[in-house]
Amino acid sequence: MVAAVEVQSLTRSFSGKEDIIALNNVDLRVEEGELFGLLGPNGAGKTTLIKILCTLLLPSSGTARVLGYDVDREAHLIRPRINMVSGGEISGYGLLTVRENLWMFSQFYGVPGKVAKERIDELLNIFDLADKADAKLRTISTGQRQKMNVIRGFVTNPDLIFLDEPTLGLDVTSSRTIRDYVRRWIGERDGRTILLTTHYMREAEELCDRVAIIDRGKVLACDTPSNLKRSVDDSSSFLIETTPFDVSPLHALRDVRGMSVEACDGYQILRVGLEDESVISDIISQIITCGAKVIGLNKTETTLEDVFIQMVGRGLE
Ligand SMILES: Nc1ncnc2c1ncn2[C@@H]1O[C@H](COP(=O)(O)OP(=O)(O)O)[C@@H](O)[C@H]1O
Ligand SMILES: [Mg+2]
Repeated sequence: MVAAVEVQSLTRSFSGKEDIIALNNVDLRVEEGELFGLLGPNGAGKTTLIKILCTLLLPSSGTARVLGYDVDREAHLIRPRINMVSGGEISGYGLLTVRENLWMFSQFYGVPGKVAKERIDELLNIFDLADKADAKLRTISTGQRQKMNVIRGFVTNPDLIFLDEPTLGLDVTSSRTIRDYVRRWIGERDGRTILLTTHYMREAEELCDRVAIIDRGKVLACDTPSNLKRSVDDSSSFLIETTPFDVSPLHALRDVRGMSVEACDGYQILRVGLEDESVISDIISQIITCGAKVIGLNKTETTLEDVFIQMVGRGLE
């Protein structure tokens, strides 16, 4: 069977004062019908990969095929069958209404008028935007605008859709609406494929059939979320809540496999992976030596973040 996406030895560099290797010898295969996730921190190379697959950027070397076609030589066969939504980007024309924008994008793809109209109405309802249909795009909120952006991607009924951080910076409700629709869309008809990028590990975990963990231009692992999590020794991941302090001395401890720090108001949460769970007492002593207080301590249920920490020694954010 033809893969939805097949990437071999793909490298992309950007030249400048210092050359940047955004993608470094990447191999990846996404099957038709999959909801596939690329999970990695900012700068990992996710958007670069999506742009190459959408035929917006050429590889420096290696090959990429989408729906069986080469992104370089056969871009014209790929474009009508795909679409792309980028969460970080503003799209559409502020002076047109939401409905006019969606109509315009549907016509770029040649969706027949009646079908386009029905789809637009249906999607506006699903995304809770029907009451904004006739509002000018520039007058609606960021979250509403992003939902319009997502609708724009689905309205052309692509075989393969690329969602680049579709919920970036959105409130919980809008994010949920988008995730629910993504799940529903892929289940609705056989043969639809989604390639989604995110740096929210929960999103990848919750949505994706398979996830590729990507960092600094390299794919470090690729499997189902449960297999990835199984690869981590879950007896040794802890969440430690402390008063704020400089955590750098902890990195130096021999048995700390990896650590991430999240600041909340007035305190911080450390997620630590240890070589051996008995080391936890040393960690606690060290925190106290640093002048901080331990407010809470929990063994964690393994998440994809633990997988990431184990692989690269730091967190995703
Ligand atoms: N047009 C560009 N010119 C120069 N460097 C770029 C360009 N696009 C991306 N990069 C660099 O390539 C790396 C990967 O970026 P990107 O693919 O946007 O990562 P991600 O989407 O995972 O955050 C980063 O170091 C980024 O600064
Ligand atoms: Mg990006």
